[in-house]
Amino acid sequence: MDLSRRIDKAMSAAIAHAQGADNGATPGRLAAALNYAVTPGGARIRPTICLSVALACGDDRPALADRAAIALELIHCASLVHDDLPAFDNADFRRGKPTVHLAYSEPLAVLTGDSLIIAAFDALAGAPEADAMRALRLVRLLAHHTGMPHGICAGQGWESESRVDLRAYHRSKTGALFMAATQMGALAAGHEPEPWEELGARIGEAFQVADDLRDALYDERALGKPAGQDAVNARPSAVEELGVQGAIKRLQDILSGAIASIPSCPGEAQLAQLVRVYAERMTPVAPVRV
Ligand code: IPE
Ligand code: IPE
Ligand code: MG
Ligand code: MG
Repeated sequence: MDLSRRIDKAMSAAIAHAQGADNGATPGRLAAALNYAVTPGGARIRPTICLSVALACGDDRPALADRAAIALELIHCASLVHDDLPAFDNADFRRGKPTVHLAYSEPLAVLTGDSLIIAAFDALAGAPEADAMRALRLVRLLAHHTGMPHGICAGQGWESESRVDLRAYHRSKTGALFMAATQMGALAAGHEPEPWEELGARIGEAFQVADDLRDALYDERALGKPAGQDAVNARPSAVEELGVQGAIKRLQDILSGAIASIPSCPGEAQLAQLVRVYAERMTPVAPVRV
């Protein structure tokens, strides 16, 4: 089965589980909002990286790797629902459609994010007994990269500080889930996660610099979400700190180190190829907004 089908199948099962039976005994609007928040999926880059690393490491427990992959995607989607709320970025569009708080209400958006985070940990906790030791370590890794002091919560928390360390901000806000992706893919396949942190960190840093560039250079139609938001919200960004050319150079520097950081494993060559493809996709083409 190809990776996107594995991810789709496992995501649908996790959302159906979180929604419960449609028999009037569960809140139907919240159940609908859960599905709205994860479909259509975006690029699903985090679960794809997770499964690619698992495959490169032999993928001896594919069902566990699927659980790890969708746990990441559920957390990611939750973080976007919360990030779009008026209390954060106050965004109207996400993936080309109205954000969850506009489509369903602010209380339901808060609860949607909460429910997706819980569904992510539930996906890992539901692993069969034979996988229990690996699943427990996956839970801890995901918690580390999601909460305080180093995860997404920490990253979003930087936005309430008067002085921001851009590297630490990006590393927690965006890099953390990429580190989780490479480390959890390795761990699900029985490999030690530590050597995989650097690859995730590098891909994540590059990804955020690329996102800052797209935010500054592209329009809403090209992005499927509001453009120019870093400037509007006075967010620290690679473009603000380094300028467009400086940010492009930073992006290239980070990616050139990523391939060199891939730990030795059976599928090393295919993984290097995947990083090359992502590097190409991330580098912005001619700006459509100036
Ligand atoms: C957007 O992530 C948020 C950032 C961390 C910059 P993605 O660009 O991966 O969003 P989707 O899932 O593809 O929509
Ligand atoms: C979102 O970062 C990253 C999260 C942890 C949710 P941004 O606010 O920079 O991303 P977009 O532009 O809304 O996708
Ligand atoms: Mg934000
Ligand atoms: Mg945002």
